[in-house]
Amino acid sequence: MARHQICNEDEIPVGEKKPFTVGGEEVLVYHLEDGLFATQSKCTHVFWPLKNGKMKNNCEVECPFHRARFDVRTGEVVEWANFPVGVQLLNLVRKKKALKTFPVTLQEGKVFVEV
Ligand code: FES
Repeated sequence: MARHQICNEDEIPVGEKKPFTVGGEEVLVYHLEDGLFATQSKCTHVFWPLKNGKMKNNCEVECPFHRARFDVRTGEVVEWANFPVGVQLLNLVRKKKALKTFPVTLQEGKVFVEV
């Protein structure tokens, strides 16, 4: 794992997220009230980009495609794909899977991600 400087803390306002390519990986960096977190940028269901997903409950991102929700602090699935009706058929082959997460650190206002 290598540590990469990606931006200044104030470039991602609290409650927002921003995509970066870091060491060849596409990551999304979230600024929560609890701090900064990073996950893979695509949903684990059928790989829809999460960058335009809604933030919910202060720590969750909802995939815009079939509304799977993930806790961005751990990557864990909070709710699996549930929209539209019928997506359950797809879920037979696309089982619940957590997002990959990456350690984020803050040093003198600069944000670093380990990839
Ligand atoms: S691609 Fe994200 S919920 Fe289906």
